[in-house]
Amino acid sequence: MGIKALVASAVGERDYDVSFKELAEDDLPDLPVLVEVDYSTINYKDALAITKKGRIVRRFPMILGVDIAGTVINSNDDRWNAGDKIIVNGHGLSETEQGAYAERQRLNGDWITKRPDGIDARQAMAIGTAGYTAMLCVQALENNSVTPDNGEILVTGATGGVGSVAVMLLAKLGYTVCALTGREEHSGFLKSLGASAIIPRDELDRDAKPLEKERWAGVVDAVGGKILATAIAQTKYGGTVAACGLAGGFALSSTVMPFILRGVKLIGVDSVMASGEVRDDAWARIATDLDFDKLEDLVTEIAFDDVPATCADLMEGKTKGRLVVKIN
Ligand SMILES: NC(=O)c1ccc[n+]([C@@H]2O[C@H](COP(=O)([O-])OP(=O)(O)OC[C@H]3O[C@@H](n4cnc5c(N)ncnc54)[C@H](OP(=O)(O)O)[C@@H]3O)[C@@H](O)[C@H]2O)c1
Repeated sequence: MGIKALVASAVGERDYDVSFKELAEDDLPDLPVLVEVDYSTINYKDALAITKKGRIVRRFPMILGVDIAGTVINSNDDRWNAGDKIIVNGHGLSETEQGAYAERQRLNGDWITKRPDGIDARQAMAIGTAGYTAMLCVQALENNSVTPDNGEILVTGATGGVGSVAVMLLAKLGYTVCALTGREEHSGFLKSLGASAIIPRDELDRDAKPLEKERWAGVVDAVGGKILATAIAQTKYGGTVAACGLAGGFALSSTVMPFILRGVKLIGVDSVMASGEVRDDAWARIATDLDFDKLEDLVTEIAFDDVPATCADLMEGKTKGRLVVKIN
């Protein structure tokens, strides 16, 4: 039986084309763990690759998609056995390694995380790279001694994948969460996730002074650019800013003042090459600290065939929360 996959194929030296293809098992990479892909997701990075707005794909042909929740079919790696329920994200999937948007895929055993008990495949992808990165950001705040009694936490890009899960996680952990959004029509949604206050995007999307009135005990930033610079200038003495994204731009123009006069810490968060230990720890925390009843409120389920059109919507800011893709 053929394997339906969404593939980027080179067109000339500098361009590529994205289309559904029917592959044979021999077309998959020569790696030891064959999995059935149950669900995947759409992350910002997937949308960048599919709409060709970002240089994500590094070799062709490339099966796209960075997130897999699947079941092992067979394995030549002793650590994994038929029937194991697994998660994979990052590790170069859809960049240098064949990715998630395929009914079956062959994987390197080192990339695989066991899906925690109590989280089903659909929930795992409702969390996905975005949600697991949100947890890494929360852990960055915790590791730098930001506690709920320190004051308000700002979450930027709040209606997006990283932002919405970060709002949920922080609220459940007892933090007071302020959600920065360009789409105030979704204020009710953000409040239902646990945001205490909604901040219009314009308030921070401007040139910042070197130091502004101290407000944030911590920041989870998914957007970068001027918003990140303003958030740093408003971070309270000793506060921590966890930066993981660039949805608003990759530039960062700041001054040293918040760092040398307020001891503000700027922590970079990377999910892609995080070690197995870091991943296991983050997923274990998600299993205990996420409100799984509320998670469903974040989810829009997308048919496999609709992935390209939904990626175009995401790049135009028309989606919210987490986009789950049913593959099999
Ligand atoms: N470091 C890592 O390992 C890692 C992992 C996952 C994701 N990321 C990055 O994190 C970012 C968010 O990913 P995601 O999956 O959450 O994407 P997403 O679902 O598209 O959410 C991004 C959100 O950012 C806001 N936004 C969009 N355009 C903006 C602009 N021009 N200026 C300011 N805000 C803007 C929007 O929220 P509002 O409408 O509410 O303002 C949007 O919903 C991306 O840059 C992604 O690459 C990094």
